[in-house]
Amino acid sequence: MKKIQIINGPNLNLLGKREPAVYGNASFGGYLETLRSDYPECEIAYFQSNIEGELINKIHEVGFDFDGIVLNAGAYTHTSIALRDAIQAVTTPVVEVHISNVHAREPFRHVSMISAACRGVILGFGLDSYRLAVESFR
Ligand code: DQA
Repeated sequence: MKKIQIINGPNLNLLGKREPAVYGNASFGGYLETLRSDYPECEIAYFQSNIEGELINKIHEVGFDFDGIVLNAGAYTHTSIALRDAIQAVTTPVVEVHISNVHAREPFRHVSMISAACRGVILGFGLDSYRLAVESFR
């Protein structure tokens, strides 16, 4: 059984309510249920926090044990050298995901502090960015 950790960063607890034109109408909880039933051969753990240090702690916690981490770091993507260092510090590969196509948005979203430390980046496919990332660990 593959162990996959999904980590969502700041403001992603508001999916379904937050800027639906950009992020859609679906809550993450419902999507996660579908994902878990579509991949019964994977144990998919979920964690969300609005706090940078808690995201780092979770990467440390699972990062030597799990088979993959799917990370949507939200706006910390564009600012956090500490998150990049955490990704580099662990042995579990991390796939960076974004719901929106950040390259079609404001210039400050075109820069990622974490991409270079990740195995790959999937963005712009709505919530299915997470599915494609899980698929990459199967
Ligand atoms: C996001 C894109 C980020 O720029 C933004 O700050 C988010 C969500 C996305 O999933 O599209 O919070 O990571």
